[in-house]
Amino acid sequence: MAISVPLNPQPVLSLLPPYPIVLVTTGANIITINQVAYFTFSPLRVGIGVAHTRYTYGLLKKTWAFVINVPGADLLEAVRLCGSVSGRDGDKFARAGLTQQHSDLVPAPGIAECGAWIECRVDREIDFEERTWFVGPVVAARRREGHEGGQALMCGREAYTIPGPVVGPR
Ligand SMILES: Cc1cc2nc3c(=O)[nH]c(=O)nc-3n(C[C@H](O)[C@H](O)[C@H](O)COP(=O)(O)O)c2cc1C
Repeated sequence: MAISVPLNPQPVLSLLPPYPIVLVTTGANIITINQVAYFTFSPLRVGIGVAHTRYTYGLLKKTWAFVINVPGADLLEAVRLCGSVSGRDGDKFARAGLTQQHSDLVPAPGIAECGAWIECRVDREIDFEERTWFVGPVVAARRREGHEGGQALMCGREAYTIPGPVVGPR
């Protein structure tokens, strides 16, 4: 028997499986993001959805570039902090105890403690009522030796999770 779900964001979105959580750097600020997706393969374009109220929104409008930093479960506290405090109120690298690292091709630092770094330039903006998707080509990508996407942090219905066991080949 199928059960109706109220048409509010939380009840509907919680029907989906856990989704990735990343730390995005733009300018020298960090924001926790779950709206991250790839848009095209050739060229490889990725995008992030950013609410207009975020400090990050203004920084993206100025710099047109960002780094997707992939955290592991060891960075859970930093993920919480960067998702609840605004860069308008201080330096999140300092508050979260994170280290800036040089990026190859974009004017935004990476986060040294993360496992992988994807540098992106913005070539498209898709505007919605209260947020904009910033989309563009990946211009550089690096990973820490030993890092795999399967170790990454995810957000489930009520808690943060990590990917579970493999259940079959693709
Ligand atoms: C798990 C999690 C996921 C989030 N995902 C997004 C997102 O995809 N887009 C967004 O605009 N804000 C998202 N947020 C909220 C921002 O991270 C938060 O408002 C942050 O403090 C904004 O920082 P800023 O003002 O320095 O840009 C998320 C927060 C959490 C905790």
